[in-house]
Amino acid sequence: MKTEDKADDIIKTVLEAGSISSGLDLGAGDCKYSMYLSKRGAKMDAVDLKDRPQSIDGYKDINYTKSDVRSFDLSDKQYDIILLRSVLHYLTPNDAEELLKKIKGHINKDGFVYIFTMTPPLESDRFLYAPETITKILSPFTLTKKEELRTPEEGQSDRIHYSWRLLYRNP
Ligand SMILES: C[S@@+](CC[C@H](N)C(=O)[O-])C[C@H]1O[C@@H](n2cnc3c(N)ncnc32)[C@H](O)[C@@H]1O
Repeated sequence: MKTEDKADDIIKTVLEAGSISSGLDLGAGDCKYSMYLSKRGAKMDAVDLKDRPQSIDGYKDINYTKSDVRSFDLSDKQYDIILLRSVLHYLTPNDAEELLKKIKGHINKDGFVYIFTMTPPLESDRFLYAPETITKILSPFTLTKKEELRTPEEGQSDRIHYSWRLLYRNP
């Protein structure tokens, strides 16, 4: 299966709820999710610190910007979905809170915010954003789907690594 054909249950839930015509992929990486949604009719804005990935050559509906998510200008843009997958924990609590508050104003009614977050490695300088913290900041958005995965931490049998897939909806 090609990379752009892979997605997870959260994205499938989103697409089952209705069509997605616009999306913003913050910390897009190789743009796997942007490609998946673009192939299903969405116009995507993808943002990452890295250079534009070659994998999106030929995707005319993916508009890639090399930028820090904290300074990306949202101006009057509105989206059906904003993705923050595996990127929140790179930001300080203040920056993460500011970004989450900012994106709330750029989601269409009934639109989605999809967040993937996890416990960071012990020795890393990354941050932990538990679902409860995110839910509070994103209020009044409603948490409509939550998947929690617990696995033993690599090389640390006494520590559990948590990851969460969280889907919020603008009521
Ligand atoms: C683990 S990857 C996740 C990629 C993609 N979201 C996914 O789920 O497949 C994290 C990405 O976040 C990007 N990133 C980290 N901090 C960032 C920032 N402040 N602004 C923009 N991108 C950032 C990294 O460059 C990296 O591509």
